[in-house]
Parts: sequence; structure tokens; C-alpha cells
Amino acid sequence: MTISIGLIGCGYIANKHLKTISQLDELELTAVSDIDSGKMDEAILTYQQLSNKENSIKMHSNFHDILTDKEIDIVVIATISSLHANMAVEALLHNKHVILEKPLALSISDAQKILQVAREQEKYILVCHQLRYRPVFRKIKNIIEDGSLGELYLGVASMRIHRPNSYYKESNWKGSWEKDGGMLLNQGIHLIDLLVWLMGDVQMVFGDIVNKSKVKETEDIASGILIFSNQARGIIEANTMTQPENLGYYLSIFGEKGTISIGGSNFNKIERCYTASPSNKNEVLTVLDDHNEHMYMYQNFINVVNNKEKLLLIDMNDALQSLMTIFGIYESSILNEPVNLPLDSFTTKDMNGKGGRI
Ligand SMILES: NC(=O)c1ccc[n+]([C@@H]2O[C@H](COP(=O)([O-])OP(=O)(O)OC[C@H]3O[C@@H](n4cnc5c(N)ncnc54)[C@H](O)[C@@H]3O)[C@@H](O)[C@H]2O)c1
Repeated sequence: MTISIGLIGCGYIANKHLKTISQLDELELTAVSDIDSGKMDEAILTYQQLSNKENSIKMHSNFHDILTDKEIDIVVIATISSLHANMAVEALLHNKHVILEKPLALSISDAQKILQVAREQEKYILVCHQLRYRPVFRKIKNIIEDGSLGELYLGVASMRIHRPNSYYKESNWKGSWEKDGGMLLNQGIHLIDLLVWLMGDVQMVFGDIVNKSKVKETEDIASGILIFSNQARGIIEANTMTQPENLGYYLSIFGEKGTISIGGSNFNKIERCYTASPSNKNEVLTVLDDHNEHMYMYQNFINVVNNKEKLLLIDMNDALQSLMTIFGIYESSILNEPVNLPLDSFTTKDMNGKGGRI
């Protein structure tokens, strides 16, 4: 049976979705929506070239027309971050399954609303934390779960990347607390999601953010000290000012029996893989270059929608945990004291005028 897909938001990241949809035989793109008609034209052309399919694809400047289209089974939401929550809730209320770009939402109340409506409507929603699907991280997760690292005591996540002023100046939403939510939510969330997935839920956060280059409202330097529920400690350090260009992303997991440290421009280098079972290192190296995570993510989602698999690798509560950790860093930086998670309420709108210490 062919599954019909409607795509809302035809910008940069839409291309990843179009490529993946075009590679999966059971999927067919049947409608797109964007407020910019040129973006819709580009998306349709890209899909047709990649898929070699010539089915007609509807174009809607109003995303509601995708939601009321009864033929559409799954809605992919790839619009700017501040629109995610409302669009996801609306799509669920129209009985669609949803693939939602990260971040899930920009406030706790919006995130909880999505969870509640998905439950009530009995529909599936997947938040695109695609790195969980990258084979090397699935292997590291298995190593931790089978005890080969022993008891974990420390996890360190570092993001050292470069975003020039033009990145913010050329966008009408990036770097805005209200529309984007900050670099931890935009760029850092993948790394923080991996840290939380591998180490466990976060109980307490002490965070600090700095907005140094004032071309935008949000932070460009952030640090966080975490206490996980198993009492292991965590450190997050992130900046988007690394000169002269991206250095990369680094994740190190320390356990009483072993250490795994992975880094590089695209997590393509194992710095150390020492575990209680020596064969792990070869297995990690064997899958290191498989970066087909988008494909694996879509396959998992389709199998769950078709009742062929029971679980999503990232469920909504997981996505909320990662979001909550970042909100905790922001909240702690405003209060200038550690905060306990879960927070009852937080919205990035509260950060307006509080870009961080200078
Ligand atoms: N998973 C990832 O690795 C990844 C990578 C990049 C971006 N993202 C996320 O994807 C989202 C989009 O990012 P992007 O870089 O593609 O941004 P973008 O600015 O390139 O694209 C956003 C698109 O949304 C459209 N849009 C805005 N309002 C709309 C509306 N009301 N209805 C329909 N379309 C509308 C814009 O016209 C634009 O084409 C962001 O939330 C971002 O965090 C995820």
C-alpha cells in the first residue's frame, strides 16, 4: 500500500526529507505547502528528479489545505521552529501521523499539548533526532546497555562550530528567541539528545549562556553542568564562534570499565573505544561511516505506523527530556542557580532581553 505524504515547509532541511521520501518505494509525495511559491516549485522539481515519479503534486500556500486532504496519511513539518507546535497539534487533530522537525516545541506547555493530543488521537509523531538512528550511536547504546562500559559516571558533550553573522542576517527567524529559540535548541539539540539518551534522564542542571556577537538575540556560548538520575555527572560546552570554521562535535562517555569518545566534523572519528569486550571496537569502526540515519528513521516510523514494529527509537517523552535539559540550562542562566528537572513551565519567549552575560 502506498503511503501518501504532505510536506509543510520547503526550505533547506526539506531537501533531506525529499531525498528520503524519494528513496522509499512505499512513500509518495502528493502535496507541498510553503508561503513562498518558488520554494514549492523547487521542492517538486527536486522530488521528481530524485524519484523519477511523475505523479501530480498539489501546491498549497495555506498548510491547512494539506491537513484537510483526506488522501494524505503522514504530514512532514519542516517549517521554522516557532510553528512546529501549532502545526503538529493541528495535523494530529486532522488524524494525520506526523514527522516533525526538531525542536519539538519552544515551550513546555506546547510540548505537553502535542503529547496529549497525540495520545488522544492515537496517532504517531516522530521528532527528527535522526542521530539516534546512526548505526554508530545505536552500537554505542548497545555497548552501554550490555554493561561493557560498567557504571557510567561522566558524559561530556562539546559543540564547537562556526556560524558567521551572515547566517543570522540572511534569515528572518534564526537567532530570535521567539522564532528559533537559541543555538542549543537549533544546533546543539542533536548532541544533547545523544548525551541524554546514552546517560539517562537529567535531574539537575546548572547552566550559563553568553550572547557575545550582538547580531542576534540568542546565545553563542553555552555551558552546563548536569546531574543525571543515576547520579552520573555531565558537562555540556557549546559555541558557534569557533574560528575560523567548524571544528566539530564531540561526545565522551566514561564508565567504570571503559571509555568511548567520538568526535570530528560529523562524528567521523573514534578517539577511544575501550570496553570490557574487545570486539566492540571493531564493531564500532565497521559502522562508523554509515550515515543513512534519515532512511533508518523513516523506515522505523513507517513500520510503526503499519504495525510492523512496536516502538519508535525516539518517542515523545524522549524528545521532551532533551528539550527540558536545554530549557533547564536557559532557566538556570536566568536564575543564576541550579534548577531541578522537570521544570513546570518554560518558554523561550521568556528569554527576550536575557541573551546572557557579556
Ligand atoms: N534535523 C536536522 O538536522 C535539521 C537541520 C536543519 C534544520 N532543522 C529544522 O528544520 C526547520 C526548518 O529549518 P530550515 O533550515 O529548513 O529553514 P528554512 O528557513 O530554510 O525553511 C523554512 C521554510 O518554512 C517556510 N514557512 C514559513 N512559514 C510557513 C508557513 N506558515 N507555512 C508553510 N511554510 C512556511 C519558509 O518559507 C521556508 O521555506 C527548523 O525548525 C530547524 O530547526 C533540522
